[in-house]
Order: sequence, then structure tokens, then C-alpha cells
Amino acid sequence: HEGSLWGGRFQDGPSYEMQQLSRSTHFDWQLAAYDLEATAAHAKQLQVHGYLEPEGLATVLATLESMREDFLEGRLVAKPDDEDVHGALERELIQRVGPELGGAIRAGRSRNDQIATFVRMYLRDRSRAIRHILIEVVRILILRSEEAGERVMPGRTHFQHAQPVLVAHFLLAHAWPLVRNIQRLDDWSVRNNLSPYGGGALAGGGLGLDPEAVARELGFDGVLPNSLDATSARDSVAEWAYVAAQIGVDISRLAEEIIVFSTAEFGYVTLHDAYATGSSMMPQKKNPDIAELARGKSGRLIGNLTGLLTTLKALPLAYNRDLQEDKEPVFDSAETLLVTLPAMAGLLAHLEFDYDRMESLATAGYSLATDVADWLVVRGIAFREAHEIAGALVRACEQRGVGLDELTDDEYVAVSAHLDPSVRDILSAGESVSKKNGPAGTAPQSVAAQREALRRLVEGLD
Ligand code: ARG
Repeated sequence: HEGSLWGGRFQDGPSYEMQQLSRSTHFDWQLAAYDLEATAAHAKQLQVHGYLEPEGLATVLATLESMREDFLEGRLVAKPDDEDVHGALERELIQRVGPELGGAIRAGRSRNDQIATFVRMYLRDRSRAIRHILIEVVRILILRSEEAGERVMPGRTHFQHAQPVLVAHFLLAHAWPLVRNIQRLDDWSVRNNLSPYGGGALAGGGLGLDPEAVARELGFDGVLPNSLDATSARDSVAEWAYVAAQIGVDISRLAEEIIVFSTAEFGYVTLHDAYATGSSMMPQKKNPDIAELARGKSGRLIGNLTGLLTTLKALPLAYNRDLQEDKEPVFDSAETLLVTLPAMAGLLAHLEFDYDRMESLATAGYSLATDVADWLVVRGIAFREAHEIAGALVRACEQRGVGLDELTDDEYVAVSAHLDPSVRDILSAGESVSKKNGPAGTAPQSVAAQREALRRLVEGLD
């Protein structure tokens, strides 16, 4: 047990098999910079409370700084025998400053409060990066919606033609969920920016150190008030994994639409060459792999959340080694988003829209039938009857194989005495969208106001 953090009471060394299972440096090494930062803050506390001489502290701080530089340059790496990042860094510190000084630093803390703290610091940093790229995606959607002007497209429910909408309205509809995810990341930070440090192994520290000072130095707003909770709760990690999964799901829904829209049957969008892939066999292919990978990776993000919750379920307090399994899923979620979102941003920024094609289909499937019913309501007919009349009109047009505006004057009246040829005036997608001028509607002026509100919101978030 030479070099291990817990050899004292053991007569025999660890088995190879146990070491293989137990080792976590292949993933928790990512937390080394946080560990070094926290160790510096902790060492200062030890000195303030008389457990370390000022000269000793100076040596330790300078050494931690050089270790940080070596870590960032890739020169400081874990050894195969290191159990985890904490043990590896203590081994290295002792190697550099000697066993007397290096061995003094562990006083008053445990790997249990350390690891809980570092995961929070990691997630805090990744939140910033993910937030940044989400804001970029939202900005791209705002820009693309502005470009789309007043162009129309089919709006669908049940994936069937329903009512025409502005392309701009559709694009912004995909931006709002992303904004809510940014807000979720911010909410997460507000609730979770508390430090588990000082919780010790489970019962708190007995050396009179000040965890508040450490928390402040590490950028936390305060200290978690219960050491059992601090060292064993992982709801903050699960909550983060949920937000990551929700981002994945919302991006996946957008990705799915791009995949469908880029088929020959739809023909709404063309992918930019730089954001599409080809086939090794079929020369004509241009595939939406980015969107498909985004859709696929949402499954992985959901899996990370459910795996984590499954690990946590029924764990007794306080620390259990099962908790080591919290890191890989969220690390993976963070990395997945940080590689998926930039690719989706590029795909969206360079997507080419066939506005004419979308417009030509906007009134397909009798999507203006509701407008006919509304037209009748404005003329004093109860909606129930108006709905019946508009339905009969659809049936008559379907039988004749014509559009709603293609009946003769007599044919309209034959469908209902309440119909007359002037109904033709409202039978265009442009007329239809212009009437939906409530605050959340798809009328051009409503969408412009919506876009301004979104733009202001995003500026406030940035
Ligand atoms: N590597 C552990 C983790 O990731 C932290 C160490 C706690 N180990 C222990 N035996 N108490 O959760």
C-alpha cells in the first residue's frame, strides 16, 4: 500500500483485480485543476488555523501552481497505481515537497467532500460553455427567421397539413425551448452553487477550519448546511444531466424536421456541402448526418440521466462508492453537447430554404378550411355550424378534385346559402397568416414583435 491514501490498517496490498475495478483516474483526471485549486484554498485554511507554517504554505502554494501548469501542459499525468485523482495529486505533491509538508495537507478533508465539490465546479464550467453555444444557436435561428421575412409554409398537427404559418414563426418556435434550457442552466447554478467542502468524510471537519472561506475562494455562494447531505447527495448532478438531456431532446426535434424537410418529398431545405455527408456506394447521396447524430445522441443523453438516477435510487446516506459512477455520465453529457451543438449551429446557419416550394404547399391539404369557418363566424354564424359548412365545402372540393377557391359561384351556394364567391378573397396563405395577429400568432407583425422580444431576452442572457 505504498503511496495509497489508506494503507495503515492493511497488512496485504491491493489485488490487481480490485485496483482495476476501483481506479478512476482515466476519467476523474479531468478534475485535477479543480482539485489543485481547492487544495490551495484548503492549505491556506490550515495555515490560518495553525496547522501549517507560513513558509510551508508558501512552498505548497508555489508547488500547486507548478503542478497546475504541468497539468495544463499535459506533463502531469496519473500513474497506473493511482486510485484516483486525489491520491495521484497527493503523491505528486509529496514527491515535490516531501512527506512532512505534503502529508500535512489532507488534514480536515476527505475525498468524499472533495469529489462532490469538484463535480460541481466541473458542471459550473461546462454550463458556461454550453450556454454560450446555445445562445449562438438561438441567434442563428433569429437571423434565419428574419431572412425568411413573410414567406409561408405548411403548418402541421399530427404531421398532417393543418394551417399555414410563417417560416419565421416555425424557426422561432425551435428557439424558445433552447432559451428555456439556458434559463434552466442558470437556475441550476443559482440552486447548486454551494460547496460540499468541509463536510469531511460524512460528519464534518473537526479541526476548526472555515469551509465558508474555502467556498468563497472557489467561487461558491456558500456552504451546504448538512455534511451527510453534502457528501452523498447527487441531485445536483442528476439535475444537470436532466437539463443536458432536455437540450438533447429539443435539438433532436429540430434535427428530425431538418431530416424530413431535406427529402425529395418535402424539398424544403438543401444542406450545405460542408455540413452534409455522402455515401460510399451511392454517388448521388447527400445525407443529413449532423441532424441524425444530434437525434441519435439525444438517446445517449437520456441514457446518462436514467443511468445516474438508477445508481442513486436506494443508496443509503452518506457516501457510498457507487457514487463514483456519477461522473462518467455527466462528463459524457457535457462532451456530447459540446460537440453536437456547434455542428448543429453550422448546419442551421448554412441551411438553404426553398421558400417557393414551401409556399406552394402551404395551402395543400385544404389547410384554409379553418379560415372559411372563421369567415362565416365573422358573418354571424355559430362556429358549430360554420365548422359543418366548411367541412362540407372540403368534401365538395375533394369530390371534384379542386382547391377551396376553385368552385364556381353556383357551387359555393350549393354547398351552403351562407357561402358566396367573395369567400375566395380570404383563400390564400398570406391572408390566412395575416389574420393570426394575436400576440403569439403567426401574422407577420406578431412574429416581428415576438422576434424582438426574443432578441431582447437573449441579449439579457448574454
Ligand atoms: N473516487 C471517488 C469518487 O469518485 C472519491 C473517493 C472516495 N473514495 C472513498 N473510498 N471514500 O466518488
